[in-house]
Formats: sequence, C-alpha cells, structure tokens
Amino acid sequence: MKSASKHVIVAGGAGYVGSHTCLALARAGYIPVVYDNLSNGHRDFVQWGPFVEGDIQDTENLAEAFQMYAPVGVLHFAALIEVGESVKDPISFYRNNVTGAISLIECAKTYGVPLVFSSTCATYGTPAYLPMDEVHEQTPLNPYGRTKLVVEQALSDLRQYSNYPSIALRYFNAAGADPEGRIGEWHEPETHAIPIALDNALGIRSGFSINGDDYETRDGTCIRDYVHVLDLAEAHVKALERLLDGHLGGAFNLGTGNGTSVRELVETIKSVTGKSFDVQIAPRRMGDSPVLIANREKAETELEWRPRRNITEIITDAWNWHQKLRAKTHPDSLA
Ligand SMILES: NC(=O)c1ccc[n+]([C@@H]2O[C@H](COP(=O)([O-])OP(=O)(O)OC[C@H]3O[C@@H](n4cnc5c(N)ncnc54)[C@H](O)[C@@H]3O)[C@@H](O)[C@H]2O)c1
Repeated sequence: MKSASKHVIVAGGAGYVGSHTCLALARAGYIPVVYDNLSNGHRDFVQWGPFVEGDIQDTENLAEAFQMYAPVGVLHFAALIEVGESVKDPISFYRNNVTGAISLIECAKTYGVPLVFSSTCATYGTPAYLPMDEVHEQTPLNPYGRTKLVVEQALSDLRQYSNYPSIALRYFNAAGADPEGRIGEWHEPETHAIPIALDNALGIRSGFSINGDDYETRDGTCIRDYVHVLDLAEAHVKALERLLDGHLGGAFNLGTGNGTSVRELVETIKSVTGKSFDVQIAPRRMGDSPVLIANREKAETELEWRPRRNITEIITDAWNWHQKLRAKTHPDSLA
C-alpha cells in the first residue's frame, strides 16, 4: 500500500467533525485513512478512503497503519467530548484524550509527519474580553477542557523544544452537516442544542429548554458562535497544508466572529423547519458563559481561512441530515 500518494491519517474520522474533514480532504486531492475505535463513531461515515479499526492508545496497531499508508500528515479528532461525563469520570477522559493523544503524537513524530489537533474554545474558560483571541488566558472550567489544554501544551513544548510541527484548532460551536446529507451530527447521547431542537421539530422529543434567560445579553439568553462543520473541515485542510509547507504551526481559533443567542437559534430553527415546538425556560447551567465569540483574525491572516456559511445555511443542512437520520433511527416516531 506504500506509495507516493497523499494519504492522511484521520484519527476519529468516523465521528462528526472528522468525517466532514475526510470529505474536505478528498475534495482537495488527499486520501483520508480513518483510524477510529468506533466508540462513538459510525462505520458508514467512512466514505472517502480506507478504514482501520483501532484505538489511538494501541501503539502497535497505530504503527502498522502508519507503515501501511505512509501518511503525509495526521489529523487528530479522537476524543471523548461530553463535558458532563468528564466531570463524572475524569480518569477515562485523561486516559483517552491525553494518554491517547500522546501515543498518536509520538507515532506521528517518529514517522516525521505533522499533526493537526482538534482543540476547543472550552480551553479558555470564562471570557475576560470578547471576541476572544488566541492569547486569551486559558483556564478551562471542566476536566474535558483541561484534557484538551494539556495536549495543546504538549504540542507547544514539542514545537518549542523539538521543532515538531503541529497546529491546534480551537473550535467554537461546530454545527450543520454535509449539504448532500451523507453525514451529519449524530452523538449518543446528544447534548448539542441544534440536534435536540430538531428532534423537537420532528416530534421525537417534547420541550426544548433554554438554560437561563436573565443573562446580560440582547435577549437574556446565552450567545454562541456557530460555525459550519464544512467550514471547520476546510480549515483543517488549510492547517495541514501550512504544516506541509514547512511552518512550525501554533494555535488558531475557528469561529465566525458572529454570535447567535439561544432564542435566535430557536427562531431560526422554527423558520427553517416550518415547525413549532414548546420552549421552556430552565435555570442557568453552572459554568455556562453568557457569551462566547471568536476573534478569527489569525486564522484569516495566516491560514487564509474564512467561514463561508451562515446560521441559516447551518440549520438548513442540519435539518436535511437530521430528517434522514431519524427516518433510519426512529421510523415509527415519524409516521
Ligand atoms: N463537536 C463540537 O462542537 C466540538 C467543539 C470543539 C472541539 N471539538 C473536538 O473535535 C473532535 C471531534 O468532535 P466530534 O464532535 O466529531 O466528536 P465525535 O464523538 O463525533 O468524534 C470523535 C471520534 O473519535 C473516536 N474515538 C474516540 N476515542 C478514540 C480512541 N481512543 N481511539 C480511536 N478513536 C477514538 C470516536 O469513535 C468518534 O468517531 C473532538 O476532539 C472534540 O473534542 C468538537
């Protein structure tokens, strides 16, 4: 299988953001090799290249994949992502997200190829100012965010002391889906606002909760920066290519720089789907920041990345995918 081809190892490529990035890689002429243990991924999301089933902590299996495909680079999405679970079981998060990442980074470094890491705006914690840029203090509020920060710091040390090239991409709120509806957001359990609201639009769930309507924001509800998953995917290709061009890398925010409040999100969802559903006001959730918005200047200047899709396109693509998903997973509830 060794060749002069442009294979890229995509750890966690059977998941939500990873699978969309495989689509973007294929469009850019790469062959994504998905490496995933399917703990939360979906085998049928692997559509644009080979699949290797395995855990990133399994160094032998990883080494075999590297030998077989001789990748030009590695994209690292494989992680546990549910914040609430990270509070209940920090050990699993540190083992999977930190030990696993170190194992993958070591393998990529040994093979002499750069790595792009999925980080998060959750590494910042409570905003000291808005929009948040990359030099904003990083004080995560939960174990999930801390596991991501530890990996960022390991990568930063490797850039500084070992000249090992890598980029950490700090996503704000990933949302939307492949406009052709082949892949999309499918987490079990689902904790993200948009798919939960879409389940309400389909009548699969009843009642959408807004956690707090007394924040100091324009309508009292929290404001988030939703970025289309395909815009994120395209940023990964640009990040990889920057490293392949010989840059050492660093950290970049990936957001739109625009905020949407939860109320505005609900209104957009009702308008795009043409469905109404009940919305309740629930108490604030501990640790929720009133506003999270990215300063994306660095990504625009250095990666030449600019998000192209707005919140209506995000919801339209998510709705298209979500109806297909639920026709498969909940055929009886949709009658
Ligand atoms: N979804 C978001 O809004 C968001 C925001 C910020 C950061 N991120 C980061 O982006 C990445 C992808 O998130 P997602 O929403 O696509 O999650 P996801 O759960 O859909 O995808 C993660 C994938 O990694 C796989 N995986 C997990 N642990 C593994 C291991 N030890 N070995 C091999 N495979 C493993 C899972 O099976 C899954 O396919 C994560 O690192 C997450 O922290 C996501």
